[in-house]
Amino acid sequence: MNIYKTIAETKKFVQHCHQNQLKIGFVPTMGALHQGHLSLIEKAKTENDIIVASIFVNPIQFNNREDLLKYPRTLDKDAAMLQQVGCDAIFAPSENEMYPEPDTTVYEFGSLAEVMEGKFRPGHFNGVAVVVKRLFDIVQPDNAYFGEKDYQQLQIIKSLVKQKNIPVTIIPCPIVRETDGLAMSSRNIRLTEVERNVAPFIYKTLLQAKEKANQFNPDELLHWVINQIKSQPLMTPEYFEIVDATTLLPISNWNECEHAIGCIALFLGSVRLIDNIGLK
Ligand code: PAF
Repeated sequence: MNIYKTIAETKKFVQHCHQNQLKIGFVPTMGALHQGHLSLIEKAKTENDIIVASIFVNPIQFNNREDLLKYPRTLDKDAAMLQQVGCDAIFAPSENEMYPEPDTTVYEFGSLAEVMEGKFRPGHFNGVAVVVKRLFDIVQPDNAYFGEKDYQQLQIIKSLVKQKNIPVTIIPCPIVRETDGLAMSSRNIRLTEVERNVAPFIYKTLLQAKEKANQFNPDELLHWVINQIKSQPLMTPEYFEIVDATTLLPISNWNECEHAIGCIALFLGSVRLIDNIGLK
């Protein structure tokens, strides 16, 4: 497995793959890898000839400096994990390599970027779009794999690809959970033991919400979930929204859309976690 630090080396590798008609599957990450990321690589391996992963903690998608500073950086361990699952190349640029000059591109995603994460993390999705567009330009993948835990990010990236006519297929991949239900996340390692023990309550609540969806209207269900989370002393809900799975606009009636999804963001101690569940 090759680890490339520069755009030039990566482009050379990509060019070699294309010359040999090898299909490239791409898994962009910010490192601190877990089984969720590895499941993306495994899925990519079934559909491509060459797998490229990127590891780059993208500063411009963090709206909170402390979150950026605390974001785990474990490159050696990540590289060993990627090698073991059969990744072919890693692109792990420095900040200067990726942004020799500030990138001030402003993308327009309309309401997709204004609700939920967009509302609570201003500028976050623009930062994601900037880096993903740059990564796609460098890696030129045939297929790119994104986890459904970041459901809103997935919709933003689909919109980016459509707007910019990027010749890549976006493949959504299901959330991978710990055996107790906690959605895998690089942030989970920042939870204290006590916080980690109560963390499964999030998914348990989402599952109960799914069961209650035929009893309650969306507004009632939303309040029920928020109150459940508030009942946990270590948890502070940021939002729970029930939205149309395509437009991400909140619904007030189950008949308003074909598929509805419940998306949650909360603080467990000082760690911000997100999760979601299909409700309809
Ligand atoms: O989901 C992530 O890890 C990041 O947002 C991504 C897509 C790698 C862009 O930095």
